[in-house]
Amino acid sequence: MGRRGPRRLSALRPRRRGPWSTEGLKAILPVVSDQRPWWRHAVVYQIYLRSFADGDGDGTGDISGLISRLSYLSSLGVDAIWVNPWYVSPLIDGGYDVADYRDINPLFGTLDQAKELIVKARQAGLRVLIDLVPNHTSWEHEWFKAALQASPGSPERRRYHFLSGRGEHGQLPPNNWKSAFGGSAWTRVPDGEWYLHIFDKSQPDLNWSNQEVRDEFVDILRYWLDLGVSGFRVDVAHALVKQSDYPDAVEDRETLLSNPYSEDHPLWDRPELHEVVREWRSVLDEYHDVVMVAEAWVSGWNRLALYVRPDEYHQTFDFHFLRAPWDSDSIRSTIEDSLSATTSVGSIPTWVLSNHDVVRHVSRYGLRPDVDERDWLLHGGDDQIDLELGLRRARAAALLMFALPGSVYLYQGEELGLHEVDDLPEAVLDDPVWDRSAHTEKGRDGCRVPLPWSRSGPSFGFGEDGSWLPQPEDWAELSVESQEGVEDSTLELYRRAIRIRNERLRGDQDLVWIENSPKVMAFRRTDGLMCLVNFGSSPVALPEGDVLLSSGPLKSGLVPSDTAVWTAKR
Ligand code: GLC
Repeated sequence: MGRRGPRRLSALRPRRRGPWSTEGLKAILPVVSDQRPWWRHAVVYQIYLRSFADGDGDGTGDISGLISRLSYLSSLGVDAIWVNPWYVSPLIDGGYDVADYRDINPLFGTLDQAKELIVKARQAGLRVLIDLVPNHTSWEHEWFKAALQASPGSPERRRYHFLSGRGEHGQLPPNNWKSAFGGSAWTRVPDGEWYLHIFDKSQPDLNWSNQEVRDEFVDILRYWLDLGVSGFRVDVAHALVKQSDYPDAVEDRETLLSNPYSEDHPLWDRPELHEVVREWRSVLDEYHDVVMVAEAWVSGWNRLALYVRPDEYHQTFDFHFLRAPWDSDSIRSTIEDSLSATTSVGSIPTWVLSNHDVVRHVSRYGLRPDVDERDWLLHGGDDQIDLELGLRRARAAALLMFALPGSVYLYQGEELGLHEVDDLPEAVLDDPVWDRSAHTEKGRDGCRVPLPWSRSGPSFGFGEDGSWLPQPEDWAELSVESQEGVEDSTLELYRRAIRIRNERLRGDQDLVWIENSPKVMAFRRTDGLMCLVNFGSSPVALPEGDVLLSSGPLKSGLVPSDTAVWTAKR
């Protein structure tokens, strides 16, 4: 099952009586009972802790800030939160460089506060998922410090990938592997060996062929499950295992990042990693109602489906949807492919529009199609982006996403319609990508700017003082305070959409395509809710039934372009 071209859907299209007759509908998903685990239809809200809410006024978000905003999260109607890494860390890669997997970074709080959060979130009806970072540790982790002290070939070094170099004096890296952040994936230590880091040099890769590493992570899983977390988002799930003879890779870095689907890549999506996942799954199966979701940047649904076989991850992120351009054909085919791949192994899709690694989707959808996202980030250019258009599409995309079967992962701030901050001064850039790419890539700071909670104040209510990254002036009007209770605000749109979804779309209901053309996408769920998105440039007729919600104003019974609407029959 590879990437398919647009499939002709005329066979699925109903014979028209009114504009949206349902005659002749054909299901593409089997009807399954509603008694399924919570995560199959959950809305999960991603907390980039550092930028969510600052409880102690030091400019950095933290656990106490998060606890103080739990009521906001439950008012949004989400089922769970996923908290980005909160562990002890030098924060060279925003916490994805873990120095101690069993304790909390003092900047973010204490272990007791983490426990308090888990309990209080539960009381507020929210489950807590945390980030597991198994591919690499920080160079400040005890294991890595011990490896540096130890000699070549020692058990301490075998927890990582230490190798001799090439060249007469071992002066060249062991192979040509490139770091995903730029530059070589190898760094040399004073005794001449090289260690592998497929990200920053401060993030040495663990050796997953080593039983000690595997045992350690089983223990870490149990540690957090025993503290009451409801599961894990697993970082870099596709790269855990490396080919044991470390051959040169054929792909260059560009290919590696954008299209890593080769079936026999030495470090990407290797078949051996599934054995590790099965071991983790057997641990999770000892607990009640917990979930593991993979961050697997693999292309090709056939590869992705392997991660969600019944004894592996419960779910995987599917970044095809996020990457699809704003056109009906591309989006519809990612939806179909994701549905058929995941359901073929008994799982269900996840839908994501933004996260802490990508340009916020308001900006993505507003960029002129001929403009390269990275160039725009680097050089700016107001003439290259139309944020009003981006927001209109983002709101429509949200309604589309909430109407789909499966679960939804929201990234903090998307419910406010926040855009990417593309003009952060160079002096504040924190993402290691900026330096490692020799300043040719801006990195991901622009989607990590702290949230605006109020219309005024030193950091728009993020904390009592400033914020670790500067917020744009126009975020005053996008703040929670400015949007709360305002009928047509993005925040209220999200609240209403999640409420209707929770009431009507729980469970694995059918999705039935009603209309698919380059301009219009429409489908119905078993419950009767119909979602229509107008991708074209002129208004289209409203589907029959009552309007439950629309992403923008409707005009004289018509759905304007870049607008989505939900209807249901009387
Ligand atoms: C994942 C994280 C990203 C991090 C990388 C290395 O892709 O989402 O933020 O930089 O892993 O840990």
